[in-house]
Amino acid sequence: MTDIKTLDKENVANTYNRADLLIVKGHGCTVLDENGKEYIDFGSGIAVNSMGVTDDGWVEAVTEQVKKVAHTSNLYYSEPCARLASMLTERTGMKKVFFSNSGAEANEFAIKCARKYSFDKYGRDRYEIITLKGGFHGRTMATITATAQDVFHTYFDPFLEGFVYSEPEIQDTLSKISDKTCAVMMELVQGEGGVNVLDVEYVQKVAEVCKEKDILLIIDEVQTGNGRTGTLYAYEQYGITPDILSTAKGLAGGLPLGATMVGNKCEFTMTAGTHGSTFGGNPVCASGGVYVLNSLTEEFLEDVKEKGKIIKERLLMLKGVKGVTGMGLMIGVSVDNAVEVKNKCLEKGLIVLTAKDKIRLLPALNISVEELNKGINILESVLG
Ligand SMILES: Cc1ncc(COP(=O)(O)O)c(C=O)c1O
Repeated sequence: MTDIKTLDKENVANTYNRADLLIVKGHGCTVLDENGKEYIDFGSGIAVNSMGVTDDGWVEAVTEQVKKVAHTSNLYYSEPCARLASMLTERTGMKKVFFSNSGAEANEFAIKCARKYSFDKYGRDRYEIITLKGGFHGRTMATITATAQDVFHTYFDPFLEGFVYSEPEIQDTLSKISDKTCAVMMELVQGEGGVNVLDVEYVQKVAEVCKEKDILLIIDEVQTGNGRTGTLYAYEQYGITPDILSTAKGLAGGLPLGATMVGNKCEFTMTAGTHGSTFGGNPVCASGGVYVLNSLTEEFLEDVKEKGKIIKERLLMLKGVKGVTGMGLMIGVSVDNAVEVKNKCLEKGLIVLTAKDKIRLLPALNISVEELNKGINILESVLG
């Protein structure tokens, strides 16, 4: 058989620094490489496989849809798309949903919608969007501009005009608001930025000022969304209501699907022809989304919170753990030399991620206590 790793290295663009791992199959939170070696998966494909790998109900839901029709185009109606949108609006109180294929695209819609809302109401010059340092919003030109981290900005200028960066600190954010501001955009837990949980008072104050000044509050829940933090969306734990809410990753449980939800203010902002996507809301992906949303019951979400607490308590007892951050099953672990820890974990059969100088854990939301304990035992043995 052709060596897959060589084939990949020779032919796939060099944008990824892949680990020496070829996953060929799996079930739940256990995956196997080509030699049959087992790994406990604490990464779930970066928060995508929300129900683990090859969850039986999920496989059935998407296969049933594939057998009926895999793609129709947004020129026509499709049942899974309409059903998923209605489930999302019902559970969030948002008014409309635009479907895309990724987190970056979900944020593109959010950015365009915020600018159009302001354009329609106030005219041309109110287009600035304040984003937070340490945040991450995607890899397209607009979303790397929205990402207030220098590390993503080398090589690609000129950037899109109209983004202003603030520390997640109230005086700084207030000082950046002007008569040009149309929106403030943030992640409530900065995932890529190091699993930094934003302060509730800060977020509530920003939400209050936004409301006063008719500035839109865009909450990027691409990573925190769809049950990851123990509520359907993390904003629920902040006592705020976003005007625009973007999500992706775990929404369809392993298939590419982005969604941007808009509230009252923007219900009618984006009109026919102002935006679109060929694949967005694809019936197979949307049927995966319907399955995931049906699985995320209140009881299930309580369990996510509970498991998050158990992991945190266990992690804090481990030698070498200097601190633990995060919410629910989105966890950052401060250790010395996170990259080395990640590599050693992999050797011993545990997949973990990093975020800045931390180890990042994003296990499937339905991970079993047995798999959790197995994984933490491996981490413990690595940390010595
Ligand atoms: C908060 C946040 N926003 C946006 C994105 C971009 O998502 P995608 O890679 O699906 O475009 C990510 C991806 O990590 C993310 O974590």
